[in-house]
Amino acid sequence: MRPTKAVIDLDALRHNFKTVQQKASGSRVIAVVKADAYGHGLAQIAKALPDAEMFAVATPLEAYTLRDAGIEQPILLLEGFFEEKELPRIVENDLHLVVHHSPQIDALKRLKTDKKLNIWLKIDSGMNRLGFKVDELPQIENDLAEVECINKPVRLMSHFASADDVEDPFTSKQIQTFLESTEHLVVERSMANSAGILEAKSAHFDWVRPGLILYGCSPMIDSIGADYGLKPVMNLESQIMAIKHLKKGESTGYGRHWFAERDTVIALVAIGYGDGYPRNAENGTPVWVNGRTVPLVGRVSMDMLAVELGPEHSEKIGDRVVLWGKELPAEIVAKHAGTIPYTLSCGVTGRVHFVYRGEL
Ligand SMILES: Cc1ncc(COP(=O)(O)O)c(C=O)c1O
Repeated sequence: MRPTKAVIDLDALRHNFKTVQQKASGSRVIAVVKADAYGHGLAQIAKALPDAEMFAVATPLEAYTLRDAGIEQPILLLEGFFEEKELPRIVENDLHLVVHHSPQIDALKRLKTDKKLNIWLKIDSGMNRLGFKVDELPQIENDLAEVECINKPVRLMSHFASADDVEDPFTSKQIQTFLESTEHLVVERSMANSAGILEAKSAHFDWVRPGLILYGCSPMIDSIGADYGLKPVMNLESQIMAIKHLKKGESTGYGRHWFAERDTVIALVAIGYGDGYPRNAENGTPVWVNGRTVPLVGRVSMDMLAVELGPEHSEKIGDRVVLWGKELPAEIVAKHAGTIPYTLSCGVTGRVHFVYRGEL
């Protein structure tokens, strides 16, 4: 069997969840598990978090997958519903809804149901992505008063644009905007994502919404999860599948993107962009091989990549390789690939074998 696998450590996940609870001790936790739990496996991750008071996903289908897996906690649809005809199934599955534009309120006004839905009104505090502008709020409050099928008062939420940068004063500005525009309302609030949980304590409010930090990575610029006491949940691993001796001046891989500067030895590793390893990882991106870090050399192929072991090497075919995880922080690999750790775990493809470790 091809040795390429993602080992998912559920004990590390629970450790990170507890870390969130400690850091935001006055708040309740909505575990963000959208995009297949950031590529870690939606149902497995949710089942391993029995203490999460709520889960958040981006699409109704992700929520139904959780229900089918037996998840009973409340589930929040972060973008609400996309089509009015989805509403009956959303009601049937007892999902919480973000409401971020007026057509959604109009659709709720038309909804005929005996049940009451739980709504989170999304306020745009400056990110200019989803949500109502603060000057629209008085009108929206009037509109919501006419909606019969929702529990009142509704909850409020907002989202940060740049909380990953502690130097950026925009985060405080957003908190101020969110608070000032809603101070007349006695309701539950949610604002903090992972970065807000780590570095913007005044935004913890009633509910926090951690995503990335649950999976053990840091969203903060130039830091890794361990800096905040987090443990990586995903270890992306493979093995050496071939070893090759190169003369000085020879190249490896497509496009002849790297040339040996000395007589040297390279190893071919059984993982490529067809598995989700980023093709744009540059020469020199660290790869962990059998206890040491060696540089990626040449272009990443679909099914394999090359690393330089150097002339004095002891590695052999079958030796363990870690692309990111406990031995090598995903944040560092992401930087070498011009991306962020979010895209690395989300990008691991279906042909990678997933192995779950730790108690369920
Ligand atoms: C609305 C909302 N809240 C929370 C999160 C979690 O963010 P993070 O993974 O940075 O914690 C996201 C993720 O993009 C989001 O869109």
